[in-house]
Amino acid sequence: MTEQLRIGIVGAGLMGHGIALALARGGQQVAVTDAFAAARQSVIGRIADSLKTLGESDSGISAILQNITVADNVADAVRQADAVFEAAPEKLDLKQAIFAEIEEHASGNCILASNTSVMPITGIMSRLRDRNRALGTHWWNPPHLIPLVEVVSTEWTDDAVADRMMRLLAEIGKTPVRVKKDVPGFIGNRLQHALWREAISLVENGICDAEAVDTVIKSSFGRRLAVLGPLENADLVGTDLTLDIHENVLFDLESRKGPSPYLEKLVEDGRLGMKSGEGFRTWTSAEADKVRARVASHLTRLDSILED
Ligand SMILES: NC(=O)c1ccc[n+]([C@@H]2O[C@H](COP(=O)([O-])OP(=O)(O)OC[C@H]3O[C@@H](n4cnc5c(N)ncnc54)[C@H](O)[C@@H]3O)[C@@H](O)[C@H]2O)c1
Repeated sequence: MTEQLRIGIVGAGLMGHGIALALARGGQQVAVTDAFAAARQSVIGRIADSLKTLGESDSGISAILQNITVADNVADAVRQADAVFEAAPEKLDLKQAIFAEIEEHASGNCILASNTSVMPITGIMSRLRDRNRALGTHWWNPPHLIPLVEVVSTEWTDDAVADRMMRLLAEIGKTPVRVKKDVPGFIGNRLQHALWREAISLVENGICDAEAVDTVIKSSFGRRLAVLGPLENADLVGTDLTLDIHENVLFDLESRKGPSPYLEKLVEDGRLGMKSGEGFRTWTSAEADKVRARVASHLTRLDSILED
């Protein structure tokens, strides 16, 4: 049986509400807080809405919500916690200040975890008195639909602490993966942005347009990525073929160290993507809504397909 732990969550936005949902749905006792009253007041309703989209019944939703309390402040959210997840905005000084406050009020053996997207965990945790119990847990959006959580150790993190976090995440049904060194982008975002760098370069160099890039991925290797990782695939086709391909193509791939000037110009021109109606492509708000609905529906159904 799953051990019931007490969990504190600091930051009740997009990620914090989903992390709270996933932990509470997995049977853990969650106390969530946010610096803003509006976020504290709305978080239970937002969790209930997300549970509805997951197909939970009304009675299932009420049972899960019983595992969640909303705390007025950080001290109340973390005082009794066995583990705390921070999901506040991506600003280093803010995260450092939040962890200083958490350390002030949490018990000595409480695990401290940051959900930063890309910031080194080492920098966030460097000012703590006890850095051995601190690590990164990089959940993916939406946290209640994407199974992966990357568990990132710094040079100070005790292995036993990372193991405890791995167990907790596995017990609530997530797919945790250990990241043994605190490198920028961890594993997933390094892989994802290696692909995005080449995708932008293809458009920048006039090889194809943005729609063609997306069509190629969605209609080819994107279809099998959910069931066949690249290194499984390399073994499937043979490492000898993989070497032949790399000898003939890697020299020509994009390898610049910084962002693409094409991307910088889009941002400079206010072409910010779906939120401004234009980015790599143009979007009406109906088209943008359709994309969001397609992703949510795909992710919801994928779980049951992959179980087969
Ligand atoms: N959105 C994503 O796709 C995604 C994916 C993975 C990781 N992350 C990371 O997760 C973290 C949270 O991102 P998000 O998308 O949920 O942002 P968000 O803006 O939706 O939520 C952040 C919440 O933190 C609250 N907050 C602000 N200051 C606070 C403070 N001092 N104490 C407590 N709460 C405070 C805000 O009111 C807000 O509700 C960031 O570090 C982000 O980089 C985001």
